[in-house]
Amino acid sequence: MSDRSYSVSMTVNGEVVNANVSARTNLVDFLRQDLELTGSHVGCEHGVCGACTVRVDGRIMRGCLLLAVQADGQSVETIEGMAGDPLMTSLQDVFVEENALQCGFCTPAMLLTAHEFISRVVETGAYRPDRDAIRDTISGNYCRCTGYQSIVQAVERVLIQYETAPTKAPNGAPNPGSDR
Ligand code: FES
Ligand code: FES
Repeated sequence: MSDRSYSVSMTVNGEVVNANVSARTNLVDFLRQDLELTGSHVGCEHGVCGACTVRVDGRIMRGCLLLAVQADGQSVETIEGMAGDPLMTSLQDVFVEENALQCGFCTPAMLLTAHEFISRVVETGAYRPDRDAIRDTISGNYCRCTGYQSIVQAVERVLIQYETAPTKAPNGAPNPGSDR
């Protein structure tokens, strides 16, 4: 395989990044090794475990299945870039309260997946905490420690917070959990 390098420009966590990357470098390796954003983890490198989940143009993707050159011109967000996001803050708080993490290896990706799930539910107005839907959503994220029960419980709790505060959008809005 060619190891030619390419010049790329993308926005990472709100900052423009210009770099030369090898044609074979995947996005998660580029984020971790070149940009030192180590919140996205590398497990299987085959698209199976979900540990490498990042957001590309607002949608979660497998960072190991996307080449860095394919992200040229796009907006990339990692867990580091979600600091201060109200919904993410709620999720992090409740994950801690529910003991929804142990080693934490799966946690950044699990949080990004849960964030997209709840955002989508809130956007569509379909407020129905549904454990099967939560389990289905996180089924692409492997967790070796928790047995998933506490993660499902945490995601459901945050969903219920938004259910009881339906006028508040998940992004950029007051945190429904902040008055706990
Ligand atoms: S490292 Fe990407 S899915 Fe496992
Ligand atoms: S908390 Fe250890 S892999 Fe999920």
